[in-house]
Amino acid sequence: MSSPAAEPSPNKRRLFVTTALPYANGAFHIGHMMEYIQADIWVRLQRMLGHEVHFVCADDAHGAPIMIAADKMGKTPQEFVADIAAGRPRYLDGFHIRFDNWHSTDAPENHHLAQEIYRALRKAGLIAERSIEQFYDPVKGMFLPDRYIKGHCPKCDSPDQYGDSCEVCGAVYGPTELRKPYSALSGATPELRSSEHYFFQLSSERCVDFLRNWTQAGDAQGRPHLQQEVLNKVREWFTVDEHGRGGLADWDISRDAPYFGIEIPDAPGKYFYVWLDAPIGYLASLKNHFDTGRAAAHWHEASRTQQDFDTFLRDPAVEQVHFIGKDIVYFHTLFWPATLHFSGRKTPSQIHVHGHVTVGGEKMSKSRGTGISPLRYLELQLDPEWLRYYLAAKLSGRVDDLDFGAEDFVARVNSDLVGKYVNIASRACRFITQHFDGRLDYLGATDALREAARALAHDVAAALDAREYARALREIMAHADRINAAFDTAQPWVLAKDASRRAELQDVCSRALAGFWTLSVLLAPVLPATASRVARELFGLQRDFLWSDCAELPRQVAPYRHLLQRVDPARLQQLLQPEAKPEAPQAPAQPSIGIEDFAKVELRVARIVDAQAVEGSTKLLRLSLDLGERDAQGGSRLRNVFSGIASAYDPRALVGRLTVVVANLAARKMKFGLSEGMVLAASGEGPGIFLLAPDSGAEPGMRVS
Ligand code: MSP
Ligand code: ZN
Repeated sequence: MSSPAAEPSPNKRRLFVTTALPYANGAFHIGHMMEYIQADIWVRLQRMLGHEVHFVCADDAHGAPIMIAADKMGKTPQEFVADIAAGRPRYLDGFHIRFDNWHSTDAPENHHLAQEIYRALRKAGLIAERSIEQFYDPVKGMFLPDRYIKGHCPKCDSPDQYGDSCEVCGAVYGPTELRKPYSALSGATPELRSSEHYFFQLSSERCVDFLRNWTQAGDAQGRPHLQQEVLNKVREWFTVDEHGRGGLADWDISRDAPYFGIEIPDAPGKYFYVWLDAPIGYLASLKNHFDTGRAAAHWHEASRTQQDFDTFLRDPAVEQVHFIGKDIVYFHTLFWPATLHFSGRKTPSQIHVHGHVTVGGEKMSKSRGTGISPLRYLELQLDPEWLRYYLAAKLSGRVDDLDFGAEDFVARVNSDLVGKYVNIASRACRFITQHFDGRLDYLGATDALREAARALAHDVAAALDAREYARALREIMAHADRINAAFDTAQPWVLAKDASRRAELQDVCSRALAGFWTLSVLLAPVLPATASRVARELFGLQRDFLWSDCAELPRQVAPYRHLLQRVDPARLQQLLQPEAKPEAPQAPAQPSIGIEDFAKVELRVARIVDAQAVEGSTKLLRLSLDLGERDAQGGSRLRNVFSGIASAYDPRALVGRLTVVVANLAARKMKFGLSEGMVLAASGEGPGIFLLAPDSGAEPGMRVS
């Protein structure tokens, strides 16, 4: 191992990296995992490049919803949040997400820091006190957050609308405009009461000036704080229209007791609004990381001595990088930098904003049962690195949403990871093991080989650093294609038959494996577990890969051992079945109908005469059904019906069974043919689909009523 690293920057960076702090009121969904995976890949790259990284997160513990949820379960908010926190490691470890520290915004460090920062803001003259009128629930004895007030829409009079907007007519209003308002907590009619609130004067000239400047600026290395599209959005928030509307408004940072949060100094009964102390939780987690001594493991030789939280953050070279989703941009690009700046602290270097994950084109919704449970993914023994690879292959440095599609997932993983990447090792290793006892050797000059690896590593590092993961993976897979093509062109299976061409065979396979080595280095941020096995088990390295390994030439390889499995589409399909959620409320019933409405539906008993899988669909089975109907010649006429039960039934087991069919459903032309009816099956929030069947004795064609 000789030559120096392929590195985009000769300078060692000092990085403080966070992801958004998830609300401690529920389990992680795939959107959370995407954010963590995105950040984890970035962090792993920086570490492989030799940079110093402190990567932290925490639970966002405070706020009214958590207090209310805890109350409903008969727990203290502290107990409630601790239970949620206890569940986090399964997700994080399961997907190889390696935070250096996981803390809580309710931890002492955060209480302390939030109060300290508030005092500094007050000293800077940026805190104002104003009395505001709000709805108060006289039964619960508390002021009601907007989403806990319901009533009739002031525009269209629809009942049961939330305090901020009408789901029926789309009107936007304030909670005090609702007609017949009631508390969603107690049902009581709320009273208007006034109370003193504390405001951060975001609309003040110095705040606006600072933020205008900061949002358009960049760090010392010239990296902009914000992506261009984020900046465009933020600019709109500064704009004041001809009526003087718009522009930055002062920010209400206080809430009245009872509230689960941090007490405001010198203001008994007042608490910080959760969004004031939440981002301060980034600092609290970092402080805890330093104070517990764990940060020392990541220090640089040079800075190993007496580093603590304060000195670290005072170092102007330290970059503070936040990964967040597009829904919380306002908080991170306006409130947060202003809070930090006017309390005399380092402001963020970069805010990396990503879009949202959708599933099958739909927004995730727990109530509709869409979305994918990360835990179920693991329980089904789907490989966590598949998901890392798949998400990375779809991620760019932009704010676009990212759709999770099952077919897409299968195609990417199977064709790229297994078909292109792993394929190289499994093919080349065989010859090296069989003929050369694991020894690699290269004929002629290897400079070009190494130079190509170095150039590729440089481009891939730049793409990953810019969070252009899809581009990075495209370059990596293009290289895999070249390696496979060169291997095929050389026809090693022909060379192997000719004892006089052993050196050539060894060269061809060694070059392929050197390529595999390079690919493994470059894929390591995305596939840390596989890369680690490749380094240690296949190539006998005593450590994980560093980026600087990219252009090294391996000299030895162990017999090939299985690295990555193909995705089985059926198992992935199981994941997409909604997960059991016992505590979820039942789906709301439909409005009642008269018997004459029901009579319009012609339900009949049918016998399943044949059932077949449908090529090109993981969901559908093609059923041939006998409903006792006759064709013109008097023969029995069978109906063709497609049914989305493939995940639950082996077609062979269905043949001969009786079921119930909607016989007068208009025939529907589907991608795979005409469907002439619908079989009835039950499904709930939990996994499984259950075909209806009549009691024994029923005959095909009988009417069900
Ligand atoms: N608690 C706040 C953040 C405080 S940061 C000081 C919060 N929590 S959250 O649990 O709702 O969201 C956490 C992160 O997950 C946010 O960055 C959010 O954008 C992200 N996502 C939530 N739903 C998402 C998707 N469907 N897709 C991708 N990311 C999503 O907001
Ligand atoms: Zn309305």
